[in-house]
Amino acid sequence: MVTNDSTKDVEHFNRWSRTYDDSWIQRYADRVHTEMLNVVTNEIAAPNTVLDVGCGTGRLLRKARALYPSAQLFGVDPAKGMVELARGQVPSAAIYLAAAESLPLSDSSVDVVLSSISFHHWSDQLTALREISRVLRSGGCFCLADISIPVWLANLVQHIKVKSPAATSQFFEEAGLPVKVQHRTFTRFILLTLGVKGSKGV
Ligand SMILES: C[S@@+](CC[C@H](N)C(=O)[O-])C[C@H]1O[C@@H](n2cnc3c(N)ncnc32)[C@H](O)[C@@H]1O
Repeated sequence: MVTNDSTKDVEHFNRWSRTYDDSWIQRYADRVHTEMLNVVTNEIAAPNTVLDVGCGTGRLLRKARALYPSAQLFGVDPAKGMVELARGQVPSAAIYLAAAESLPLSDSSVDVVLSSISFHHWSDQLTALREISRVLRSGGCFCLADISIPVWLANLVQHIKVKSPAATSQFFEEAGLPVKVQHRTFTRFILLTLGVKGSKGV
């Protein structure tokens, strides 16, 4: 389900795509990406397939390429401008114009799914988590990093669907991805959550 709010978000990212890599957000995003890959590598040392959901210009996929040189990489993003840039930045990855709520990948085909600073834009977060669970193989993991501010504060800003740590864990659980790792990072503004398909969680 794509709502008007999320259409506006996607249009915003489409416009932002040309200058996104030079923007202030990169100072923080790069540190978040590095931490995500550390947490993932602890769980699965050498994944064969990696998908980045809401991949933007492909910066996280580029880091994944350096860390997992022989892995098959996929990215999805609903903003056309972002997809075009990601295709240029990570030519060896398959990048699709698609949203998290409807992933163009087969069941049980991916070892690791990543998503950074994108989740709060998704129009139907639970459907998207179920999609991620569908494409993950059993034992595969999903590492999500997203903004973590008090929900009352997030509610003052339209289009920001920030979840508390407990609500995030519950969504993961409902999607069949019990949470194994969850902590705040980067001066507590980012919540990192890792769920493993088919596990018992913590
Ligand atoms: C702040 S950017 C983050 C990009 C990248 N992950 C990074 O860490 O730099 C958020 C991205 O989420 C994408 N996005 C928005 N709605 C989405 C959805 N429903 N499914 C997947 N990605 C979405 C936007 O197009 C945008 O590229």
